Amino acid sequence: MDIEFVRSRFIKHFDGTTGSVYASPGRINLIGEHTDYNGGFVFPGAVDKGMIIEIKPNGEDKVKAYSIDLKDYVEFGLNEEDAPRASWARYIFGVCREMIKRGVEVKGFNTAFAGDVPLGAGMSSSAALESAYAYAINDLFGDNKIDKFELAKVGQATEHNYIGVKCGIMDQFASVFGKEGSLMRLDCRSLEYQYFPFKPEGYRLVLVDSVVKHELASSAYNKRRQSCENVVAAIAKKHEGVQFLRDCTLEMLAEVKEEVSAEDYMRAEYVIEEIQRVLDVCDALEKGDYETVGQKMFETHHGMSKKYEVSCEELDFLNDVAFDCGVTGSRVMGGGFGGCTINLVKNELYETFITTAKERFKEKFGRSPKVYDVVISDGSRKLL
Ligand code: GLA
Repeated sequence: MDIEFVRSRFIKHFDGTTGSVYASPGRINLIGEHTDYNGGFVFPGAVDKGMIIEIKPNGEDKVKAYSIDLKDYVEFGLNEEDAPRASWARYIFGVCREMIKRGVEVKGFNTAFAGDVPLGAGMSSSAALESAYAYAINDLFGDNKIDKFELAKVGQATEHNYIGVKCGIMDQFASVFGKEGSLMRLDCRSLEYQYFPFKPEGYRLVLVDSVVKHELASSAYNKRRQSCENVVAAIAKKHEGVQFLRDCTLEMLAEVKEEVSAEDYMRAEYVIEEIQRVLDVCDALEKGDYETVGQKMFETHHGMSKKYEVSCEELDFLNDVAFDCGVTGSRVMGGGFGGCTINLVKNELYETFITTAKERFKEKFGRSPKVYDVVISDGSRKLL
């Protein structure tokens, strides 16, 4: 990410002065997909790609925002009725509104931003943007009185209330809390978390991007969430205290088989199994048992493809190629419907895998997948 680049555009676009500069990263997730909004566990880490924003209060009651990548400029006020139409600007507007709701006296500012998290690749470019603005606004207008968890929730609430995606907390949590060299296991029910240093001797983590852009807002994501809630409601009638699928076992699920749709049943089965897989992977990691980690990743892919049905032909193909090449673990990462696979690869297999994946994918789909080596990095921070 290039600070000087953002700064030069900020200077050029506004009045020649400079502001404060902040960065927030995108994320990977080793395992635990669609478990966050079910009160389960996730296992993300922040990456070395993200968003850089420059921001300076302008003494007015308007935000003047410039997207460097899109070369698009938007102005908006800070009241609820001032929501801008451009979707990228709605993220910034949403964060301002959510900070205001939490008592921060947000005033007008000039801002420019750019990012190198690939958009729609399942690495949470939107969470990176939200977290960067939440962090910056807290610093500039809020005396940093909002704690880090609440900043993550500001991003999540922005998605819920201004974008229309009923996402969980994983992406924003990872972007805010990221730590170089460590993955984080978050319990999304209690919000307790733990850093796990992740330096697998002899292996590399690599993302292969199907270049199919995923569209979470396309309602498929919210529909999955609804399925989970339907099942929880049925189980809660028989078992007091059940609030999330996290509180359910496969036996409890079996008890409501006749009361829920076959589709909802299958979705819930995936989630209950996936929550357990995160715990199994943590155990395996503590023993340095990467074969088990990899096996669980393949199981997740199978579940996401066949039970949760959030994969696509291109991602299934990349998963098959990884398996054929002897890759230790591979699966679709993030919300699904496109984006990347995450792959745990032995060093000596890396070159063969990447070459084969590129060649075979191109042969079949007529275009090359992109490849990103994972570098686990720090979360939201002030740069200048
Ligand atoms: C998206 C959402 C997250 C999470 C993942 C799936 O990235 O924003 O909250 O649900 O999908 O694990």
